[in-house]
Amino acid sequence: MNIVLLGAPGAGKGTQAARLVAEYGLAHISTGDILRAAVKAGTPLGLEAKSFMDKGELVPDSVVIGLVKERLQQEDTKSGFILDGFPRTSTQAVALASELAELGRDIDAAVAVQVDPEVIVKRLTSRRLCKECGYIGSESDAACPSCEGELYQRDDDKPETVRNRLEVYEQSTAPLIEYYRGSDLLVEVDGDRPVDEVFSTIQEALA
Ligand code: AP5
Repeated sequence: MNIVLLGAPGAGKGTQAARLVAEYGLAHISTGDILRAAVKAGTPLGLEAKSFMDKGELVPDSVVIGLVKERLQQEDTKSGFILDGFPRTSTQAVALASELAELGRDIDAAVAVQVDPEVIVKRLTSRRLCKECGYIGSESDAACPSCEGELYQRDDDKPETVRNRLEVYEQSTAPLIEYYRGSDLLVEVDGDRPVDEVFSTIQEALA
């Protein structure tokens, strides 16, 4: 099963992707995670990406498309994958379709998780992540409930950057919902419900 996860920043894509990976054994391809790893490692790619990410802007298509093409060549993606945070522009969506056609693979569903922007601002400004295992939690967690690791706040989860990320989403990424509706792949899910309920709805839609 090959899935595209769409949704605004903070809609719960990473949270639902972790559940889907655990349930179906899919490869998790998160362009945000790949870029943050490059920033942390201080690679030339990371240095370039950081200047865009810190402002809540999109990293240029050419950079991100190259990363995803390379990742899709890896063995673990052959038995199924979840793309989390990609595509984010129509150029990326077209490049993905053409790369998958070359590889003889298809998207089975594009799951769009919908959440009101005001809920998102609250979620993101209170989000905390585990330094050790990447667990996604919130400021109400004293330490990682999974491995006791230290929690931190992402640089782009400050209120002003979050608002810019939401604007960028509306302008560049939201139109992809119509793109996937047009290909009959779209599954729309109300993401403003408890995590387990959102997950059950996604599972039912994928069944
Ligand atoms: P990326 O890392 O992809 O961030 P994003 O899309 O902005 O999404 P987030 O990770 O912030 O949120 P999420 O939807 O995964 O929500 P989560 O599950 O964590 O991208 C970061 C940056 O990298 C971009 O701004 C851009 O610069 C660059 N980039 C990445 N991909 C790119 C691309 N393709 N092209 C160009 N540039 C790219 O949940 C959020 C919070 O809500 C958590 O605290 C969680 O616990 C909580 N939560 C989740 N679900 C629920 C629920 N149902 N109820 C209550 N709380 C919930």
